[in-house]
Formats: sequence, structure tokens, C-alpha cells
Amino acid sequence: MKVLVTGGTGYIGSHTCVELLNNNFDVAIIDNLSNSSIEVISRIYKITGKKPIFYNTDICNLNELNCIFDKEKFDAVIHFAALKSISESVSEPLKYYTNNVFGTVNVCEAIKRNGVKNIVLSSSAAVYGINSGKAIKENAALLPHNPYGRTKLIQEQIITDFANTNKIGYVILRYFNPIGAHKSGLIGENPLGEPSNLMPYISQVASGRLKKLNVFGNDYNTHDGTGVRDYIHVMDLALGHINALKKLLDIPEYKLICNIGSGHGYSVLDMIKSFESVTGIKINFGYAKRRAGDIDICLADTELAQKELGWKTSYNINDMCADEWNWQKLNPKGFLS
Ligand SMILES: NC(=O)c1ccc[n+]([C@@H]2O[C@H](COP(=O)([O-])OP(=O)(O)OC[C@H]3O[C@@H](n4cnc5c(N)ncnc54)[C@H](O)[C@@H]3O)[C@@H](O)[C@H]2O)c1
Repeated sequence: MKVLVTGGTGYIGSHTCVELLNNNFDVAIIDNLSNSSIEVISRIYKITGKKPIFYNTDICNLNELNCIFDKEKFDAVIHFAALKSISESVSEPLKYYTNNVFGTVNVCEAIKRNGVKNIVLSSSAAVYGINSGKAIKENAALLPHNPYGRTKLIQEQIITDFANTNKIGYVILRYFNPIGAHKSGLIGENPLGEPSNLMPYISQVASGRLKKLNVFGNDYNTHDGTGVRDYIHVMDLALGHINALKKLLDIPEYKLICNIGSGHGYSVLDMIKSFESVTGIKINFGYAKRRAGDIDICLADTELAQKELGWKTSYNINDMCADEWNWQKLNPKGFLS
């Protein structure tokens, strides 16, 4: 079985490629390297002993996509390629709509033209509206509150509309907060510039690359006043894609939209404490004002993923911190190290 992975040299894509290769899928990657490094391909090879085919291509270029699809004959597509910074999406919305929405239309065009029957889409908890603090079910209101979240929701709508009329199976996975890295420390999240997510920030403070962590808000309605989120180890997330793919290949025109999270909530302070106890490194942090749009608690209800995909998380918060630090320690400058 041959799988196309768009965005396969990125953070989640690279970990998923490792699991695909470990599960004996043939893998081809399309990535324009706008937020990743070609070095990832050799790291994947070091981990798995197998090299994915790599195309340095932009999904916005339909001609190139069609050429690749003509050549490779894919059984399924896993579509990760997207821009993902919430703050950048606010300052440059058109860049996000062009890349994430137009890019997804092109991927669907190429799928249709070449008769591919299965697609897995990376979506996000960002498609949900502000919630009441309870675990979010998939049927909760979809009210994204930034352009990034809106592009993810539009991607979902494109896939469902397109798949329904073209007899294509799909699984749309709404990730909560992926963190951690492969145990080898050879691949991990490689933010270009200052990280916008908590864990890479903590680990860069630990390594001395950044001076101090700002904890935004300590007056939230949570056990210690800091925001609570649902964190998931990226290797658990990668396995979620394997389960989704196997389900699609087993059941023609299978359709599912589900949350991919741990169902457990950890506050910012819990994460700092856990990181400190696992690594023995003190994190220099201070409190800053709440950020606009942040909420008290964001947690996944994971029942549907368990029931439909037979999937649940196996890594705990200490594993996530240990693997994140191992990656950071071995690669202090990301893939440039
Ligand atoms: N990391 C998270 O916290 C998170 C949470 C929820 C959802 N997601 C979604 O998961 C997916 C992967 O995220 P990630 O964290 O691995 O991000 P990432 O930036 O590490 O990976 C995305 C990859 O896509 C590539 N890419 C972007 N636009 C492209 C284009 N037009 N053509 C070809 N390649 C392109 C980038 O170079 C990068 O390698 C994204 O769709 C993102 O929206 C991520």
C-alpha cells in the first residue's frame, strides 16, 4: 500500500511517516519545506532503515501535484500540509486561506483525477468555539475564533463535501495539543523563530536558548489559576493515523470525524513541574496578562476515537516531557545542530 503524506517533513508528519514505514506502508512525501528541513528524510531513514520518496513541491501547484499522482498511484493520502500559527493567521489571513484552503482544494482535485479512494485530514481543536470547561464532544458547536481555526474548519468542509459526492472514504482527526518527540531524539518539533506553543518554549528555556517563560494568566477558573489543556504525545498521535488508515483501507467509503486527545487536562504549572521533575532543570518563568482568546480549560472527549478506531493514548505526561527534552538536548538548534 502506498501512502502520500503532504507536509510529511513537518513535526507530526515526520513522526507519522516513521510509524507508516514501521507498519510496512510505502511512503511518498510532498513538502515545500516552508516550515521543515530536508534533514528530516535522513533522520527518518536512521530510525526506520527505510527512506520515503520525497518531492519538494507546493500543494498550491496543481500541475506538479498531478504529475506526482500520475507517477505514484497512491492508495491513500494523509494531508498534513498547512500553516499553523494562530498569531500569524491573524496578521496574514490571506496567506492562510491561500495555503490551507486552496492547497486542500488542489489535493482533492489530484485525488479525484487519479481515483484515490481514501484521505486522512489533520484538523484541530481550534475548530471548536469557546467551551464551558467540559470535555468537548465532536458534535459541539464549531465556532473557530481565529483565521487559522477557520481554515481548518473550511478544510473539513471541503473534504466532507468532496468525499460524499465522489465516493471517497475520509477520517478527519481533530488534534488537541501534540507534544514530545520520537524516543531516538532524531526528530521532533522544530519551530522556526520563537515558539508559540508551551512545550517547545519550556524546553528552549531549559536549554538556555530562551531566557524566561511567560505564563499568560494565573486567574483562570482552574485548580491553580493557569490554563488547562489536553496534551498528547506525538507518537500516540502518529499511531492514531495508522489506525485511521487501516480502518479506511478495510471499509470502503468509511467516514469519521473525531477528536484525538488524551482526555486528561494539565495546567501550565503542572507542565512546568512535570518537566522540572523529569529533567531536574528549573524553569525560569513569570506571570503575564491573559492573552486575548485564551480559555480556562480545553479537553477532548476521546470516546469516539476509542470506539471507532480502537485508539487511545499510551504515553503519560512524564514521557512527553522526557522525550521533548531528549529531542531539545540532542538538537539545541533544531535540525541545524
Ligand atoms: N502542532 C499542533 O499543535 C497542531 C494541532 C492541531 C492541528 N495541527 C495540524 O497538523 C498539521 C501538521 O502540523 P505540524 O505541527 O506538523 O506543522 P508543521 O509546520 O511542522 O508541518 C507542516 C508541514 O507542511 C509543510 N507545508 C505547509 N504548507 C505547504 C504547502 N503549501 N505545500 C507543501 N508543504 C507545505 C511545511 O513545510 C511543514 O513541513 C497541520 O495541518 C496543522 O494544522 C497541528
